[in-house]
Amino acid sequence: MEFDPMSRLIVISNRVSAPKGQSGAQGGLAVAFQAALREYRGIWFGWSGEPTDEFTGQINFQRSEGVTTATVDLEAQDIDEYYNGYANRTLWPLFHYRIDLAEFERGFEDGYQRVNERFADTVRPLIEQDDVVWVQDYHMIPLGHELRKRGCNNRMGFFLHIPWPPRRLLSSLPHAAELVTTLLAYDVIGFHTDEWLEAFRDYVTLDLGATMSEDGTIHLGDRSVKAIACPIGIDTKEFVEAATSTSARLTYRRMRDSADGRDLIVGVDRLDYSKGLEERFLGYERFLVDHPEQRKEVFLLQIAPPSRGEVGSYQRIRATLDALSGRINGAYADIDWVPIRYVNQGFPRHVLAGIYRAARIGLVTPLRDGMNLVAKEYVAAQDPEDPGVLILSRFAGAAEQMKDAVLVNPYSAEEMSDAIVQALAMPKDERIRRWRALMDGIEEKDVLWWRRRFTQELMGDDDSLAV
Ligand code: G6P
Repeated sequence: MEFDPMSRLIVISNRVSAPKGQSGAQGGLAVAFQAALREYRGIWFGWSGEPTDEFTGQINFQRSEGVTTATVDLEAQDIDEYYNGYANRTLWPLFHYRIDLAEFERGFEDGYQRVNERFADTVRPLIEQDDVVWVQDYHMIPLGHELRKRGCNNRMGFFLHIPWPPRRLLSSLPHAAELVTTLLAYDVIGFHTDEWLEAFRDYVTLDLGATMSEDGTIHLGDRSVKAIACPIGIDTKEFVEAATSTSARLTYRRMRDSADGRDLIVGVDRLDYSKGLEERFLGYERFLVDHPEQRKEVFLLQIAPPSRGEVGSYQRIRATLDALSGRINGAYADIDWVPIRYVNQGFPRHVLAGIYRAARIGLVTPLRDGMNLVAKEYVAAQDPEDPGVLILSRFAGAAEQMKDAVLVNPYSAEEMSDAIVQALAMPKDERIRRWRALMDGIEEKDVLWWRRRFTQELMGDDDSLAV
């Protein structure tokens, strides 16, 4: 592809977050995009997160800290059927292997299609001839196809941030073949791991009858699409700085003071059933039961900001965790010690960084996760002279890269308990050795690496984007 300094990057995703500076709480993914967009003269387009009485397609542009965002409001029915419905009651559970929680309703499917068409109508006029379009995640699978229908011939990529399920599981989704076929409108499709990529290839070759050439290009009808594994990273340098900032130091001190000499085990997750929080609490309880002598030597701080609260399965997991944390605390607490500090709110990044640094163990044990950036942030926040230990689920996408963590099966309370014992007893030289290897990995493959790797595939040459 010819070098074209006029090409811009148009990122499209359901949720758009303008930078919030040091004071705002935001997820790792939002920060990753802001870092990527800052590099380009680009636009980030998506839903404002707000409802409107009637969809008008009116765009609200904002520019902050070098990032331009363009957002639209959606009607209540759209939000219900597209976001709460098809995205989070159908695709999310199914793609996280929770077919038992997946709800299949035609109204959700229709709403999902309608909103994708509305997004396509709205964003189409913003796309100039040489722009490169990069669509994110499961909310927007058919968007590329809709843009093609509207005459958009630009290079278009799609990235899935959640797992791609095995084909036998995916075949339980009504109209799965139609949905997956729309994905082939993109030029490049990215996944975080080889496992998700292979599952995708299985589906398109075995169920759709696509063929694959030696370089991994998928061919179906007149479409040729490159599907790649390209693991997202964090802005490692920025996070290391956050962890040593003055405010992180204050948080670190506050945590250490309140720990009163005890070892802190920390978990930070959106309150989502895929994060394995119930299993984590049970694994921690197993540890308390099996090692009564260590009980008052440790405590678990679980930070879990509520998420997708209008969806029944999220209401249920929240109630379950309320009850379980209460039961465990009631059963094992003493007058001067509580085993679990369970906190339902989000915190700014520098506060989290200080907490991570103060924690002897980072407990990241999702039942299934596309990647999981908390695992990487925990590592980046550690003190190189005296690092903590990452306990990581084998079923997090991050486990494909982070082999020097203590890897566990999150479904096994016994394995989780053993891993906690192992981590607490781990000698300093082993902690340093493991941490160094993990840190090398996240320094090498940071968010910049991720963006370059993907845009290289998309453009043929990373430099073709205007910087
Ligand atoms: C996951 C998804 C993202 C999503 C985020 C927060 O990381 O892959 O696309 O934005 O969760 O979920 P929410 O429903 O609040 O946007």
